[in-house]
Amino acid sequence: MAQPSEVKTEIYSSALELIGNTPLLALDRLWPGPGRILAKCEFMNPGASIKDRSSLYMIQNARESGQLQPGGSVLEVTSGNQGCGLAVVCAVLGHPITLTMSKGNSVQRAIHMEALGAKCVRVPQVEGTYGNVTLADVQQAEKKGLEIAEETGAFYVNQFNNGMNSASHYHGTGPEIWRQTGQRVDAFVATVGTAGTFAGTSKFLKEKNPDTLCYVVEPSGSEPIKGEPITKPLHLLQGSGYGCVPNLFEFDHMDGTLSVTDEESLQYKKLIGEKEGLYVGYTSGANVAAAVKLLESGKLPKDAWVVTILNDTGLKYTPVPEELT
Ligand SMILES: Cc1ncc(COP(=O)(O)O)c(C=O)c1O
Repeated sequence: MAQPSEVKTEIYSSALELIGNTPLLALDRLWPGPGRILAKCEFMNPGASIKDRSSLYMIQNARESGQLQPGGSVLEVTSGNQGCGLAVVCAVLGHPITLTMSKGNSVQRAIHMEALGAKCVRVPQVEGTYGNVTLADVQQAEKKGLEIAEETGAFYVNQFNNGMNSASHYHGTGPEIWRQTGQRVDAFVATVGTAGTFAGTSKFLKEKNPDTLCYVVEPSGSEPIKGEPITKPLHLLQGSGYGCVPNLFEFDHMDGTLSVTDEESLQYKKLIGEKEGLYVGYTSGANVAAAVKLLESGKLPKDAWVVTILNDTGLKYTPVPEELT
């Protein structure tokens, strides 16, 4: 039956339209003040992480520039979330996709990617342990990925060196935060994997207001952006803290770093669940732990608004033994 012409429908035409425009939530129960922690709910993207944004940008750009032909194959090396995001985009746009991922990354991510029609090649670890993925492990997954790209001629997304990764946050995450806060951001804190999120968002926020303080969150003992030697390469922050300064990182937009221990990340991951009703992953716990540290540091006005990111859902992880105790 046809609807009257004045009736507006609310129907999205594909999952791509569900990417971005995530809600900004005040964590007022976890942090009742003074000041506020405002968290971008990136686990609400269709691939359940912040990496959907860069996935869409990088694939759209490759299609527009002719690097990726209609129906062409795609290859990426991932810690899982980029793979899930790319699998969403490739399913909708009709590109076969293969992802290589370290076996140290949670198996849930491989299950998720394969449920979206992607092929996930899990690469044995050379250094870390399950749940703790090091730079050497990522390099091993990259070696395998490059071999596959060479053999198949697939388009290699290359998230660590693809400028469209940070561009997705400069044009999306940053402007959304600016709009959602009514143009009031005292500080922004975020973990760094490829640095796409931090680089793009901090650049936009600093352009709008150079007084916005932007802090990188690093796992303690693996703090290359702070300029420290790596003493603890194993940590719980899958998808970030790889022990090197990523190529997309820009020091110009950073005011400092905040270090977070595994125990603090776990503590705040748990608190986000118990106080706010949100089941999120480890880097989300790290981000909120860091936001609390910054609010407690005295570096900000008492009533400061600190914006951070809930990067992904807790459903993407196998619980580690510490969590079960
Ligand atoms: C759970 C999680 N948190 C944070 C990040 C870091 O994001 P970015 O690569 O934009 O620095 C990632 C990246 O994969 C991730 O998977």
